[in-house]
Amino acid sequence: MKVTVVGAGHVGATTAQRLVEGNIADVYLVDIVDGLAAGKALDLAQAAPLVGHGRKIVGGTEYAGAEGSDVVVITAGIARKPGMSRDDLLMTNGKIVTGIVEEIMAVAPDAILIMVTNPLDVTTHIAMEVSGQPRERVMGMAGALDTARFRAFIGMELGCASSDVQAMVLGGHGDSMVPLASSATVGGVPITQLIEPGRLEEIIQRTRDGGAEIVGLLKTGSAFYAPSAGVTEMVGSILRNENKVMPVSVLLQGEYGIEDTFVGVPVKLGAGGVEEIIEVKLSDDENAALRASAEHVRETVAAWERLSK
Ligand code: APR
Repeated sequence: MKVTVVGAGHVGATTAQRLVEGNIADVYLVDIVDGLAAGKALDLAQAAPLVGHGRKIVGGTEYAGAEGSDVVVITAGIARKPGMSRDDLLMTNGKIVTGIVEEIMAVAPDAILIMVTNPLDVTTHIAMEVSGQPRERVMGMAGALDTARFRAFIGMELGCASSDVQAMVLGGHGDSMVPLASSATVGGVPITQLIEPGRLEEIIQRTRDGGAEIVGLLKTGSAFYAPSAGVTEMVGSILRNENKVMPVSVLLQGEYGIEDTFVGVPVKLGAGGVEEIIEVKLSDDENAALRASAEHVRETVAAWERLSK
């Protein structure tokens, strides 16, 4: 199994590390900056005897090395600075992603594409258009991350293992994301029985602001440990055909009453990519929030289409 990771910055290099050290796949790491991907890949290869895995990892600036990839993860682009929204990255990252997907399709036309570059739902839309791939094979990583943040905050609040918290965050990867309080549980107990409504609303808001909180602390970059863990979860489920259920940004064509828009909803991830879109019953408020989030994604795609012409 082989994965190409495009972008050898914080998210890309950490993803590459998780994939080889977790014994999930061989990795080709590519970056536009000469020596960056090659250097980080060599460093990771030299860690292999200490960590104890037999995975291959090489890096370079050329896309030829991506040939034969089962999955391609695209993290290339600029990250947020304090005060910026993900949408502020649109024009720069939209152009970067367009060029990269063209390069990838020329050498690895059968690869499943996982987008990480922000604004996530829009770059995933661009990747699908440029690649001409069916919607099962082009998806965005956001829900896995936003859900992990929600679970971590609930775990911190209750002083329990966050791995015992089951929860889901739907919608676009932005300020309008929709953490589902109604179906979140800890060891099977609804969190609405454990956390009072006002406090729960604060946790939901902290989840929405989870990325910005880290940007504010780091000042010179954005989150990468949890994002790379989210990508790794997706890649593992695809390559091992595990059919794990997690929220993924996928093109909706009528599901949840939403048409032709990428937005995060729960899917089953297996060897074919998105094997099934799962329609969860939402409360009226959650439904309205999901539609508003999709509307925001639609408007950002329209802005891209207008400005990139
Ligand atoms: N081709 C290949 N690599 C590129 C290109 C390109 N056209 N343009 C930029 N890159 C590379 C940069 O050289 C850099 O190494 O992308 C990398 C981005 O790394 P970082 O700046 O460390 O950013 P990172 O924190 O990894 O975030 C990348 O993921 O989570 C999102 O919002 C985040 O959009 C951002 C992306």
